[in-house]
Amino acid sequence: MLSASLKSHPAPVPTHIAIIMDGNGRWAKKRLLPRAAGHRKGADAVRKAVKGCIEHGISYLTLFAFSSENWKRPADEIDDLMGLLRLYIRQELDQLRKNGVKVRFIGDLSPFSDDIRSLISDAEAETAANNRLVLSIALNYGSHAEIARAARSLAQDAADGILRPSDITEEVFAAKLHTYGLPDPDLLIRTSGEKRLSNFLLWQSAYTELLFLDTLWPDFNRKALASAIHEFQSRERRFGARS
Ligand code: IPE
Ligand code: IPE
Ligand code: MG
Repeated sequence: MLSASLKSHPAPVPTHIAIIMDGNGRWAKKRLLPRAAGHRKGADAVRKAVKGCIEHGISYLTLFAFSSENWKRPADEIDDLMGLLRLYIRQELDQLRKNGVKVRFIGDLSPFSDDIRSLISDAEAETAANNRLVLSIALNYGSHAEIARAARSLAQDAADGILRPSDITEEVFAAKLHTYGLPDPDLLIRTSGEKRLSNFLLWQSAYTELLFLDTLWPDFNRKALASAIHEFQSRERRFGARS
């Protein structure tokens, strides 16, 4: 009886999954291919992750595509990544729109070229009315910069007399972050075996379940997503309270 009732109430899937898509370079190196080949294959894994999230009824997917620290890479690799970003938006937009995906970009987009910025704003505008899956792509994103920017903006509001310092609550602060409007991630996955957050969603992941996988991002597929969701469903979240 008990097991039957448990079966009829399976643990909920995460509402919001965030992914640090790491390991493209190592995937290519293993195959004696240029790093760009790893990044290309990584874009295929993005398609699989988006499709998989729709199939599992995930409402929010946030992908770390380019960090504020990735500018330290050689110019040719940055060029390859920018080229791939253009290609991804151009090739995928139609499918994303048809699949009910709302696309949003988070991070400081000001250093990107005009053509990339207009592709981004078109993609956001053309999918704005969708609500099946909110896909947030983090570009030139870093939590420290995001938090400092929020503090600067609140300080300016206080200096302008719009806000009293005592009005600054967690909610008011969070509303100044790039992720405004997104719920905090329930599950954060990092591929490639590295066990660090690399400046991703530090404020937002206070109570997020973390999952570090050895899989290299280009090998991530529907099966890997299904097993990550399954692992999430086996965790007990307490948020500081007692079980
Ligand atoms: C992740 O793969 C993609 C980006 C950071 C843009 P990497 O390029 O970091 O791959 P590894 O970590 O060198 O294997
Ligand atoms: C994190 O991966 C950034 C992205 C996946 C976009 P990195 O490869 O840049 O992280 P580190 O340098 O190993 O910490
Ligand atoms: Mg890496």
